[in-house]
Amino acid sequence: MNSNLKEIRQMPLLPLRGVLVFPHMVIHLDVGRDRSVAAIDEAMISDEREIFLAMQKEAQTDEPDEDDINKVGTIAQIKQLLKLPGGTIRVLVEGISRAEIVEFDEQAPYIKVSVEQEEESLDKTPEIEALMRSLVDKFEHYVKISKKISPETVVSVTTLEEPGRLADVVASHLTLKLTDKQKVLEAVNVGQRLELLCNMLAKEMEIMELERKINMRVRKQMEKTQKEYYLREQMKAIQKELDEKDDRTAEVEGLREQIDKAKLPKEVKKKALKEVERLEKMPPMVAEATVVRNYLDWVLALPWSKQTKDQLDIKAAEKILDEDHYGLREAKDRILEYLAIRKLSKKLKGPIVCLVGPPGVGKTSLAKSVARSLKRKFVRMSLGGVRDEAEIRGHRRTYVGAMPGRIIQGLRQAESRNPVFLLDEVDKMTTDFRGDPSSALLEVLDPEQNNTFSDHYIEEKFDLSQVLFITTANVQYNIPRPLLDRMEIIDISGYTEHDKVKIAERHLIKKQLEENGIKDQQLDISENALRRIVREYTRESGVRSLERQIGTVCRKVARDIVAGDVESVQVTAKNIEKYLGIPKYRYGMAEKEDAIGVATGLAWTQVGGEVLTVEATALTGKGKLTLTGKLGDVMKESAQASFSYVRSKVKELGIPEDFHEKNDIHIHVPEGAIPKDGPSAGITMATALASTLSGKPIRRDVAMTGEITLRGRVLPVGGIKEKMLAAHRAGIKKVLLPKDNKRQLEEIPSSVRRKMDFVLVEHMDEVLSGALVNGKD
Ligand SMILES: Nc1ncnc2c1ncn2[C@@H]1O[C@H](COP(=O)(O)OP(=O)(O)OP(=O)(O)O)[C@@H](O)[C@H]1O
Ligand SMILES: [Mg+2]
Repeated sequence: MNSNLKEIRQMPLLPLRGVLVFPHMVIHLDVGRDRSVAAIDEAMISDEREIFLAMQKEAQTDEPDEDDINKVGTIAQIKQLLKLPGGTIRVLVEGISRAEIVEFDEQAPYIKVSVEQEEESLDKTPEIEALMRSLVDKFEHYVKISKKISPETVVSVTTLEEPGRLADVVASHLTLKLTDKQKVLEAVNVGQRLELLCNMLAKEMEIMELERKINMRVRKQMEKTQKEYYLREQMKAIQKELDEKDDRTAEVEGLREQIDKAKLPKEVKKKALKEVERLEKMPPMVAEATVVRNYLDWVLALPWSKQTKDQLDIKAAEKILDEDHYGLREAKDRILEYLAIRKLSKKLKGPIVCLVGPPGVGKTSLAKSVARSLKRKFVRMSLGGVRDEAEIRGHRRTYVGAMPGRIIQGLRQAESRNPVFLLDEVDKMTTDFRGDPSSALLEVLDPEQNNTFSDHYIEEKFDLSQVLFITTANVQYNIPRPLLDRMEIIDISGYTEHDKVKIAERHLIKKQLEENGIKDQQLDISENALRRIVREYTRESGVRSLERQIGTVCRKVARDIVAGDVESVQVTAKNIEKYLGIPKYRYGMAEKEDAIGVATGLAWTQVGGEVLTVEATALTGKGKLTLTGKLGDVMKESAQASFSYVRSKVKELGIPEDFHEKNDIHIHVPEGAIPKDGPSAGITMATALASTLSGKPIRRDVAMTGEITLRGRVLPVGGIKEKMLAAHRAGIKKVLLPKDNKRQLEEIPSSVRRKMDFVLVEHMDEVLSGALVNGKD
């Protein structure tokens, strides 16, 4: 210390703990210790209110003595004083200047010290200047990074001119260790003090930098834990996904195994495996995956190589066919031929059999029986109402809800690639804008192509060549032409009364008894009873409604037996009405009276032959021709032709020549609600017209069929056998039919032929003379 400037003063000592006051610093101090309070009291007495503030070396010392107190401290002035409850005093002090204790006088009640005060040099040497600048710089920087000091402080610091003061103010703002602060306080030389502070600041900043780095590291650490948590969660999600993948792997492996076992053709297998691969790559829940699964399901379920062994024993097959059906000789023979050829050559490429006949003649059931006789699986597919190519051939997989076509569906159902496949009702297919189903069927039925049948859904070729296709139709003319070309038609026309009774006796009764749980000996239906059922309760070509009537009898009988009324029942022609009620049809028309203008024709419809009445009447009018009864175009034209014919023959027929000027003509064909068509009613309409205009009645027991030309020639018509059977059913004895149909008469069972009189006609004259009552016949 510079002894030149020393000035010794005495004042009370306030020992400080944990705090240090620099000159120029204004601070609140809470004072509690007795000696300290006394020191303040003492200080307050003097005018200057000066007190010496010196820091204890150890904060915990309660009663410090000389050695416990730092020598260098600050002379301060008490600015304010506030007594707090509990004896504590809060004082506001302002540091004045540095001083050093030279004498320590520990008198009661406070410590009195003599201090030596030092005047501070205000010289600004360039070195001091440089130090000052450096300090301000550093302080600014420090404030920036520490963020604990307000920027205004920096402003006030930069305006300080006195170097010592600058150092002290800066030191008071820093968070330094107390010992360091003490060091600054002890640095009386301004230059040294500035330098010391610069060093301290630098060090402090270094520490702060480190702190920052550590903080960063801590934050990073925290971020890392957070990241780990996040990743772990993600991993869980992935794991979950992987688990699902495991299901998927199992599924895919299962599929691969199935494909291996399925004995698929090479191409199909390749395709299937490719699909599995595709499935493997897809997310499990997408719709596309379901599509692929369905597809594989189909491919695996198809009988690509599975087939049953044919029974090729012709005798045994014949036995089975005969067992199941009565009659049907031609159809059975054709099937047996097929078997024989099949036995000789494995590669059978014959035309497809088509069973044509009216309803209920056993077409469907015969096909089933064929399957049984060959020991093949049987599938039936009805083509009735099919009007979309896709129904046969399937939809492409790109369609929503796509499915294979019916052929493939049938094969899956058959579980064998060589079933008997019945395509029922080929004549009931229709065509619309969605494509022609018959063209798809062509490919199915053509033996040259069907070994590579391709379904739109399955996509791979399926070999249909081992399938035995049988088709059925009610009428031949409705079968699409190109299909017809590939078929061999077997006609199953209606049964005669005799056949029906036999079929009932041998098959239908047995079947119905079984179905209704009645024992053989409990019910006996006599032959005459059956004949009455055929004649009076049914009118059909087949035997379906006959079977139904027998079923009705069986049910009634079963009820009686269960009720305990009877043990067994004999159904005879006499008591049949008890079971079936009053007859629905009158057998025979002969007893009806001959009538004017009512002619009996014969029609051939999808349900077989039928008796048709044609009525004609003349009304006063102007020659208009009205036709009713839901007649088709061909039939209407035929009516026009017969009208013209009758007009051209008025003289010969004894009809007034001007009848067409005075009369309207009305031709009606009941039953009015049923559509009718075809030319075969021509001569019937002409007869009815001739009768009504000439007033001659027509014989009721005569029926007729034939097309008429304008000149009265009678042309041949179709369905002769069916028509004759229908006439026979109706009890008609005499039929007029075109001479050119003579050959067809041979098809008529002899039992029917014997009972009927067939008159072959070439011209309308013969018709009229045969039909009108006062004719030559
Ligand atoms: N010749 C027959 N022998 C024994 N049963 C027969 C005979 N003909 C038909 N049936 C029986 O008549 C019933 C009807 O035959 P099915 O259903 O096969 O007729 P369909 O010709 O297919 O008729 P649709 O054209 O209406 O389909 C069946 O129960 C069948 O067993
Ligand atoms: Mg059928």
